Amino acid sequence: MIFAANFKTNHTRASTRIYMEALKEKIVSKKAEDSVYIFPPSTALDAFEGNFTVGAQNAYPAQNGAYTGEIGVEQLEEFGIQTILVGHSERREMMAETQEKVAQKFAFFKEQGFEIIYCIGEPLHIREKGFESVMQYLLAQFEGIDIAYDKMIVAYEPIWAIGTGRSATVDEISSTHRALKKAINDKPLLYGGSAKPANIKEIISIAGVDGVLVGSAALDVEKFSEMVLS
Ligand code: PGA
Repeated sequence: MIFAANFKTNHTRASTRIYMEALKEKIVSKKAEDSVYIFPPSTALDAFEGNFTVGAQNAYPAQNGAYTGEIGVEQLEEFGIQTILVGHSERREMMAETQEKVAQKFAFFKEQGFEIIYCIGEPLHIREKGFESVMQYLLAQFEGIDIAYDKMIVAYEPIWAIGTGRSATVDEISSTHRALKKAINDKPLLYGGSAKPANIKEIISIAGVDGVLVGSAALDVEKFSEMVLS
């Protein structure tokens, strides 16, 4: 299983260091086949020691250059970071990243050999239209994306389940993952959206779920490590 923690705009450089030190101790007994990823805010990126991978929540598709407010590959290389989230719904919605921009970013980081956690997910009004509309919407988010890329992990995150406390139901996750797995040739597929200690066992036991991408519940190292060890 893959357990990934997306801090979003939470935690400072100081609190991230405390978190990482605690995490390192807490997950020593994790199963060898399980992997853990942490995506801190970019100001907290650093070289950390521990049985986990640190990734970037976002970066500009450039080595370096005149991109005010952004970081590029050069800033990630300083800490040996080779993993990135691409296509998160918050970036698509709030930072106006179109499918075209998302696809360009994917292609750039693929070219750099990065491991990419590629996020997709539908809004509530699409879910309410039924399964066919959901799949049509989700498959459109693969436009311009090389699904054959061997360092791609997909994260299915229904937007209405993100940060709401209400995760998708087992049936919704199960049917969506089954269809997505076929579309992505069995690539690793995470679920994201209000995953927490109370529902983690149920979620990771669903066929077609290879792990979780966790926001809110992962901000607390106790809760996140409880999920990793579940
Ligand atoms: P959440 O966020 O766990 O707070 O719902 C998940 C995500 O956006 O990755």
